[in-house]
Amino acid sequence: MAQRSYSSAIEEIKSRCNIVDVISPVVPLKRTGANWKGCCPFHKEKTPSFVVSEQRQSYHCFGCGVGGDVITFTEKYYNLDFPEAVEKLANQYGIQIDTVYSQQGKKREPYYELNKQAARHFYKNLASGWNPGLEYLNKRKLTAETVKTFWIGYAANEWTDMTDALIKQGADRNMLVELGLCSEKNNRVYDKYRSRLIFPIVNTQGKIIGFGGRIIGEGEPKYLNSPESLVFQKKNNLYGLNVTRQEIQKEGYAIVVEGYMDMVSLYQGGVKNAVATLGTALTPEQAKLLSRYTQSVVLCYDADAAGIKAAIRGIDVLRRAGLEVKVLHVDDGKDPDEYIQKHGRDEFINLVRNKALPDVEYKMALIARKYDVRKTDESIKFFRAAARVLKELSPVEQDVYIKNISSKYRISEGALRDEINGIPSTSSDVKSVPPRAEEQVNLNQDEEPDILEKTLIRLMIIKSDYFIKLKDYPGAIRTGLGIGILNAFESQYREGEDFDIADVRNALDYDELEYFNRIMQEVQPGEDDEKAFQECIRTLEQRRIDSRIEEIKDILTMSDETVDQEYITKLTLELQELSKNRASASKAGKG
Ligand code: CTP
Ligand code: MN
Repeated sequence: MAQRSYSSAIEEIKSRCNIVDVISPVVPLKRTGANWKGCCPFHKEKTPSFVVSEQRQSYHCFGCGVGGDVITFTEKYYNLDFPEAVEKLANQYGIQIDTVYSQQGKKREPYYELNKQAARHFYKNLASGWNPGLEYLNKRKLTAETVKTFWIGYAANEWTDMTDALIKQGADRNMLVELGLCSEKNNRVYDKYRSRLIFPIVNTQGKIIGFGGRIIGEGEPKYLNSPESLVFQKKNNLYGLNVTRQEIQKEGYAIVVEGYMDMVSLYQGGVKNAVATLGTALTPEQAKLLSRYTQSVVLCYDADAAGIKAAIRGIDVLRRAGLEVKVLHVDDGKDPDEYIQKHGRDEFINLVRNKALPDVEYKMALIARKYDVRKTDESIKFFRAAARVLKELSPVEQDVYIKNISSKYRISEGALRDEINGIPSTSSDVKSVPPRAEEQVNLNQDEEPDILEKTLIRLMIIKSDYFIKLKDYPGAIRTGLGIGILNAFESQYREGEDFDIADVRNALDYDELEYFNRIMQEVQPGEDDEKAFQECIRTLEQRRIDSRIEEIKDILTMSDETVDQEYITKLTLELQELSKNRASASKAGKG
């Protein structure tokens, strides 16, 4: 059978996966006239207001307002992103997708398997009688239960302990080297992890993708991490999330720490909603991953200069992903591990409740610390710096903080507003209003999205301005690989500069790079890039209008005239207005 392009696979999913079949196994539905009704899985309710229309293949909740099609339901219900939801449905219904993605999936399995064998070996090492790993573990006060939860292991102080064991089980030498478990010298392979406590890194599908190894006692490097490989991309994963994601969802926020030990120690101490970054600054991909489980994050980094810098960067990355951020620096005890070991869970939670500062306040406090506001010249610098921070905020937030700051530091609100408005418009305007997750779903998925996506990516490479402008159109780029490229742009973006293609390439993983190169080859830039971009935007605008029109039609089909009369009137008016806009937009398109 011929493989399908991404967009035709989406079409096929929509025509073959009956929405009632997809929803009813997880949400009991009863027929009511032409529609189906049940209790909404996305908010708590006793009387059913969640309606599914078989005829329109869509759903809408009259209680909380969520709605969409079979794909957006799958995204939301199973906490998947768009490409993952597509893949899940495609697999379930035997629809083939021609993405590098699904082909790579098969290639990855043996690597996961090998990592699992290695983890099992290290884990057994630790459990086999007395050894330096166990002694170190005791010194760090980790319990047997923690070892089990995180599959912590021990790499013996020998050259071929793990290598021998795995080769004996039939492991492939080259694969061991690719995974960074072995090094190769003079045609011989030997263990890369020696005399280390091993922290397997597990993704949210439960696959072991890499390892972090802490030296027993002192030595360099303190931590040895797996290299990037077919199965391990640091930027896409968070340590501990496989264990804590339910707890994060339940608690309503995630605590992000720097170290493996911090994460594990918090968990053991009873703080079960933490994750650790993998020895790098928080990436947009990690932010996006977190946003599937929560809208709120507390950054809990060391109180040193590096920790402050990491917090500031982290704030911006998380905000851009639409998350709410607070910052907490523990100061008694150098890091969260030491703090919780010393003070216990309750005191730690108290710190989070009382001492974590909302991001804006945190930035303000840092600025206030830098300048002495009693001195005239420094106070001017302080307000300028403050204005730059406020500029990044949404109008409502800005208003709240302007009032707050003007009363606290005795400056007129007007002056502060003028200062803010005097800052030239930059990317930050767009950054300030991050798209909410709900707005990103529910797109109209007809036409040829792949071509539009590729053209947009090509244009952004020509002028980084287009990257900024496109932020007004969440969902314009929507294949998994396209989103990956967009994230690379995000991490490489410098105000006022175009992208350095080499830097962008470096920020891409294996599959994304392949896609990127294909775009650079296939899409030929025309003479007038501005015009090409405007055309793309017009298409996106029309898509947005079409999508809202469809959504309203859905809701109208599913609404109950006896109870929703007012709502129905409102929507009908909106529909008329949109249809008018649609007509004039398509006229402009032709003109
Ligand atoms: N890290 C790393 N490589 C290093 C040092 C640190 O990858 N050579 C990463 C690790 O992910 C580590 C995190 O940065 O968990 C934090 O480092 P650090 O604060 O130095 O270590 P701790 O987490 O405090 O570890 P420990 O308590 O074991 O000293
Ligand atoms: Mn530590």
